Amino acid sequence: MPGNLYYVTSMTTHTAVLIPGDGIGPEVSEAVLSVLEAAKAPLRFETHHAGQTALDLKLGDTLPESTLAAIRQHHIALKGPCTTPVGKGFSSVNVALRRTLNLYAAVRPIRNMPGVKTRFDNVDLIIVRENTEGLYSGIENLITDGVVVSMKVATRVACHRIALWTFRYATHRKRTKISVFHKANIMKMSDGMLLDEARKVHKHDYPNIEYEEVIIDAAQMRMVQDPTQFDIVMCENLYGDICSDLCAGLVGGLGVTPGANIGDDDAVFEAVHGSAPDIAGKNLANPLALLMSSTMLLKHLADTRGDEESRRAGERIRRAYDRALQEGEKTRDIGGSLGTREFARAVSDRLED
Ligand code: NAI
Repeated sequence: MPGNLYYVTSMTTHTAVLIPGDGIGPEVSEAVLSVLEAAKAPLRFETHHAGQTALDLKLGDTLPESTLAAIRQHHIALKGPCTTPVGKGFSSVNVALRRTLNLYAAVRPIRNMPGVKTRFDNVDLIIVRENTEGLYSGIENLITDGVVVSMKVATRVACHRIALWTFRYATHRKRTKISVFHKANIMKMSDGMLLDEARKVHKHDYPNIEYEEVIIDAAQMRMVQDPTQFDIVMCENLYGDICSDLCAGLVGGLGVTPGANIGDDDAVFEAVHGSAPDIAGKNLANPLALLMSSTMLLKHLADTRGDEESRRAGERIRRAYDRALQEGEKTRDIGGSLGTREFARAVSDRLED
């Protein structure tokens, strides 16, 4: 129920909103909460709902005002995936949440995990996706029968702010190279504006960071040939969405790819994957992507609120899941045989003091 308090630890310091979401969301959320509790993370959660679940609970909207108000109050949320009907029905809650709260930077770290065998070693890149406009503005019009236009929106304000954010982030994370994926050869004005702003920020503020521009189609080819050539990738909304799943596939799939949606005031942490209706309710989902998102949340608390206990809790959890994977304790999607709950237990059992 909205407003329920879920205490993860008795020494609570930070309150975060939990949105369990749809499909596999509640089961992976539950698994993650069990690990956070075992790790004594200094967090308590207030549960609110969104998506199909909010409709099922008769909250009146897929993105209830009470959920938004709670995030605005606490500034931090951990979110499970929300279903969006394809080709009909309500519009995406995920897109609405990001736009309403102005969570303009989606951050998706992509790295090899110990014990997860993939085609490439040493993959360690971060995708930064502009999260508020582009084709996700959802402006579609039926011009006449059989003719639809879908509008790609680009504003200078949003292009500048994502460029500046990405360069700042790269500096803070001691990353050395930014690659902007674009299609400005065709979309000269919209993608062109993103390039303009990225070039300006590079030239005036961050000349020491290596900078390159790669046309999105060639970029995808380069990515699957050798992802280790990329460090930070910055894209507009749609390219970032597609590239995130492609990159997830390079390191073991959607079960191991976390994410964060960050704005100036609020941040919502969620896995890249969706609600996976094909495996929902079967104890098959890998909770690792959401668990990794929760460690990003803890790091964010440490960086923005100076709370070193959060940082230590995140690092403890990271060492524990790395160890679990190394020792072959894995869910089925990455070659193991554990269920959602069993994997969470395997991680909790490996937490050091
Ligand atoms: P999906 O990510 O839900 O599933 C794609 C495939 O990956 C499925 O075979 C699924 O079983 C598998 N998979 C995903 N997460 C997994 C996990 N944690 N462990 C093991 N296997 C996992 O993508 P799909 O099918 O395109 O979308 C389903 C629904 O999710 C749609 O309604 C879509 O709109 C929504 N969605 C929501 C997102 C969000 O809330 N941020 C992001 C992406 C999709």
